[in-house]
Amino acid sequence: MIRTEILGTGMYVPPRVVKNDDLSQMMDTSDEWIRQRTGIEQRYWADENTATSDLAVEASKKALSNANVDKSEIDMIIAATLTPDHDFPGLACFVQKKLGIPGVPALDVRQQCTGFIYAMSIADQFIRSGMYKKILIVGAELQSKGLDKTPNGRDIGVLFGDGSGAIVVAAKEVKDPKRESHILSTHLHADGTYAEELWLEGPGSGNGPLRVDPEKIKEGYHYPKMNGKAVFVHAVKRMPEVLLEGLQANGLTPNDVDLFIFHQANLRINDMIAKQFNVPEEKVFNTIQKFANTTAATIPIGIDEAVRAGKLKKGMLVASAAFGSGFTWASAIYRY
Ligand code: ACO
Repeated sequence: MIRTEILGTGMYVPPRVVKNDDLSQMMDTSDEWIRQRTGIEQRYWADENTATSDLAVEASKKALSNANVDKSEIDMIIAATLTPDHDFPGLACFVQKKLGIPGVPALDVRQQCTGFIYAMSIADQFIRSGMYKKILIVGAELQSKGLDKTPNGRDIGVLFGDGSGAIVVAAKEVKDPKRESHILSTHLHADGTYAEELWLEGPGSGNGPLRVDPEKIKEGYHYPKMNGKAVFVHAVKRMPEVLLEGLQANGLTPNDVDLFIFHQANLRINDMIAKQFNVPEEKVFNTIQKFANTTAATIPIGIDEAVRAGKLKKGMLVASAAFGSGFTWASAIYRY
């Protein structure tokens, strides 16, 4: 049977480290508050001349090189982000331009923190169907340019970092699914009832006569808004639920999983899920301490970091789950 194998991974963060103490100079917060509530110790923020596609291209080049795949072999580019370079065209087209692989389809996925798993799922369907053989999937986020860095924005401003992660996936004839590397399944969900619990209101067509309204900019409608408690409550319910859905679909239990690579929104969310499943700490690979929440990039950054740390080796069974704006949530079960 034709299945999807991860051939190579890569990640990139810009050079500037921003510590919690640096933020307390800007927005009436403290290292203690941020660590206690989220586990975050630092994040990376890009400089003013960097765009999301620049971060995405760096991670993509590394993934291609680690996969030993030439860019000319790529049949499709899928990019997940909520912070594209421009409203249109999408990020994937700019990544394509900068990588220099014109002609192949380039698709954006706008599912925020869940975007990378949605992108993995789309790639998996194209490969299983036989339509494409090699796909570049990149999750990239440049949050720092869009945050309110005054005390008004402290509830969100401390959570996000910039960065990107990429994987190259390819078609593979799998004979022994219990041993051979491949994506076993992906499980996607959304509930737009909660769209406004975590969102960026403007600019957009949903705000009256003007797409860009100078009056609303004065009120800060271009900064992300979040009902943190609602997000937390839904995340700790939906992530375990979708994880179990994925495991059960494959006749597996949490004990069968070698490594959990979750979305990185809050260390407390991930600790609660691990506790619920009785998973030992060493089986959960967290990166939020170092990179904060890089939205669509957290999962590929996690995969690449785990590979480079020697925690993720060929043949290991991985379970990933994410929850985010939309609300959207999803899981992927794969043998690396
Ligand atoms: N520094 C210091 N104090 C702060 C900060 C800050 N950065 N932010 C808020 N506070 C204050 C609040 O004003 C409040 O003060 P008060 O008690 O005097 O009113 C107090 O700290 C507690 O605030 P809460 O919002 O109740 O804090 P909570 O314990 O809920 O933690 C947090 C907030 C960390 C944001 C939590 O709700 C959370 O992690 N939510 C989920 C985040 C998430 O998953 N986001 C989704 C991913 S993003 C995406 O999909 C795009």
